[in-house]
Amino acid sequence: MSMYRPEKADELIKTAKAMVAPGKGVLAIDESNGTCNKRFEANGIDATEEKRRQYRELLLTTPDLEKYVSGAILFDETIRQSAADGTSFIDVMHKRGQVVGIKVDTGAKPLAGSDGEKVTEGLDGLRERLGEYYEMGARFAKWRAVITIDTAKGLPTRGCIEANAHALARYAALCQEAGLVPMIEPEVLIDGEHDIATCEQVTEEGLVEVFDQLHRQNVMLEGVILKTSMVISSKGASNRAGVDEVADRTVETLLRTVPAALGGVVFLSGGQGVEESTAHLNAMHKRHGDRLPWPLTFSYARAIQGPALEYWKGEPGNVEEAQKRALKRARFNGLASQGEYSADMESA
Ligand code: 13P
Repeated sequence: MSMYRPEKADELIKTAKAMVAPGKGVLAIDESNGTCNKRFEANGIDATEEKRRQYRELLLTTPDLEKYVSGAILFDETIRQSAADGTSFIDVMHKRGQVVGIKVDTGAKPLAGSDGEKVTEGLDGLRERLGEYYEMGARFAKWRAVITIDTAKGLPTRGCIEANAHALARYAALCQEAGLVPMIEPEVLIDGEHDIATCEQVTEEGLVEVFDQLHRQNVMLEGVILKTSMVISSKGASNRAGVDEVADRTVETLLRTVPAALGGVVFLSGGQGVEESTAHLNAMHKRHGDRLPWPLTFSYARAIQGPALEYWKGEPGNVEEAQKRALKRARFNGLASQGEYSADMESA
């Protein structure tokens, strides 16, 4: 069956449009406690629930952030927390006109029968959890799948690509039934030594499979946001491709694989440098802006938060300057989403 419309189709389309409104992107602050703690420890910050709360408050209450950030993806702990003045984070975001998102997968686990690949879990009981999040005020939900490239081992395997795409589609259909826009995230990892052509080939194969599975599960594309990795050289590649090549290959790959009806495309930063993430998005718009059938913007975690976290160090006296650093990245990425960023702005 095709052309299926979920009961809440109009609401889903409206939410998706708000998430990728012109000049805006989505902030990712949905690190699991384990990942958040690791980043805290690297910056000498205590790994406690209260510190995690303070840090999310710092980011969510950054003055003017809503000019460039349409919404944020929260972790289950965070969506239940409040600012120091007692206002729930959900209310903090709603007052700023932002869309509340929630990470709903339960993590990437070793794929049985595979030599080092992962499959993302979290479908059991998902309908009930989505219903609760919708009641709380969430309007979109994220699920991250990871695809590992290892040419020596012959990875990724079809089994891994298909298992992850199938789970993404099952979760996406459940989200739309509940009135939540699925933000589907099939991430091709930047780790390894492969070149950009290999990344392009794997990204294409993965996206073709994801959209095939979405079709089979009657997911309405107008109410879906794709969160994808860029087509990029791996960290260990000998000749890493430059900004224009990343922009060109990423756009060409998306044009070949992502239906024009999709609600929008956003990028993860995935271990790229902070300024590099902004430059890549900007180049895509500068070089190909008139060819893009869908809004194309950012949904970075590290590339927005990184400079703020490094400055904050868990000290109350550093909050204001840390917020300025987060705002700077949000503003530059907002400009990049319209092709209006330039590297000179970094030093101005
Ligand atoms: P990064 O931008 O740090 O890759 O995080 C985005 C994200 O949501 C990863 O799941």
